[in-house]
Amino acid sequence: MSKYRIVGGNRLQGDVSVSGSKNAVLGILAAAMMLDGPCTIENVPDIVDVHAMLEICETLGAKITPKGEGMYAIDPTNINTFEATHPKVKNIRASYYLLGALLTRFRKATMHMPGGCNFGTRPIDLHLKGFRKMGAMGTKATDIRDGIIRIVADELRGAHIFLDVVSVGATINLMLAATKANGLTIIENAAKEPHIVDVANFLNAMGANIKGAGTDTIRIKGVPVLPGGYSYSVIPDQIEAGTYMIAAAVTRGDVTIHNLIPKHMEPLTAKMIDMGFDIDQGDDWIRVSLKEGTQLEPTNFKTRPYPGFPTDLQPQATVLLCLANGLSRMHELVWDNRFQYVPELESMGASISIIDRCALVNGPVSFCGASVTALDLRAGAAMVLAGLAAQGVTTIASANRIDRGYERIVEKLSGIGAQIERIDSDDEHVVPVDDE
Ligand code: EPZ
Repeated sequence: MSKYRIVGGNRLQGDVSVSGSKNAVLGILAAAMMLDGPCTIENVPDIVDVHAMLEICETLGAKITPKGEGMYAIDPTNINTFEATHPKVKNIRASYYLLGALLTRFRKATMHMPGGCNFGTRPIDLHLKGFRKMGAMGTKATDIRDGIIRIVADELRGAHIFLDVVSVGATINLMLAATKANGLTIIENAAKEPHIVDVANFLNAMGANIKGAGTDTIRIKGVPVLPGGYSYSVIPDQIEAGTYMIAAAVTRGDVTIHNLIPKHMEPLTAKMIDMGFDIDQGDDWIRVSLKEGTQLEPTNFKTRPYPGFPTDLQPQATVLLCLANGLSRMHELVWDNRFQYVPELESMGASISIIDRCALVNGPVSFCGASVTALDLRAGAAMVLAGLAAQGVTTIASANRIDRGYERIVEKLSGIGAQIERIDSDDEHVVPVDDE
């Protein structure tokens, strides 16, 4: 498995560009499996999770042709099975979108339970309950046997669905299932993340009738056919953009991050301004810098569904709080166990106490290089950030987990002055099976 080796302490400077959104493209690839004709998807990030999803889609019978950097022609017309039982289904969480897609295509779907939970309980009860309201059977917890979900619907019909927890996955999955259902589906208390809007925009471009994505009520009028036939470009990755903003910040650097949507970054930019950073922005870029001698103010974060502060930036933002002058609080309100990386960070010098779902972060500390592990994708990104800020050498084991969601991170960080390299060992292609 790969390791990253970072010699910390360099002030990052220059320009870096953000890739396509992981969580949008994974939903879009599943959605492409429901189309009645081919389509092209552009700005697809070159990351491990996308390759896993492409492989799963191919085993269903989809024809996938790379068309140059970040572009794939996808022809789902020969999909011939409703069974998504490829082993990689268990590796990635987003494979659960194939339930909605295959249910739409075949009125039945069989699938392994998606990837394991590494930051708390990760139920899919809301997905199943929604399918049940639309007429599907096999959707009770007791119907899941030997880790396999088997769902059947004589007819998929529009339904009024209220999500009692705001869930990204359930919102997208139910949107997929409703796209060709008979009648109108209304999803209330829907998640509003940018990737939900992107999946809806993709489906609408291919012939669907979805209104309200990005608000908490989504209305989907079922259509008989999804002709496809168009090219669609995936939005930039909000979390990758935020990670580079924090990389600039923790090294007291001056970096312009390009190809992002500034509106998506507001929950982070507002906090960074509170802490003392200078943030300039244009239509598709943000520059992060800091006046010499500025002492960083402590602040408090609460992770919330969009437009709140994203949980997927929580570990990275905690690294930044370690450098602030005083006590900051990081409340994790989405996942019940997403502070597992804290002991790793402490081994680099952090001073953090956890009380329930709140991390009390005492700063400022000086990070020192250490050997740590990427316990999951974003925890791994946090280790990279701490390594960049640290004096000395940091090695990060299980770096494959970081590759699941960050395209060419070593090259991108090197391009703005980081001293970081990937060290591959013999078993470099082994990807941990236990996370996102
Ligand atoms: C998506 O996961 C993302 N993954 C996660 O990103 C992200 O952390 C999460 O949304 C929250 O933003 C993908 O998009 C592939 P949820 P998802 O359903 O859909 C509860 C990353 O780093 N819940 O919005 O699985 C659940 O327990 C990853 O890129 C239920 O109770 O998350 C949690 O507390 C990690 N029942 C809350 O909802 C359900 O049926 C939010 O989960 C579903 C969820």
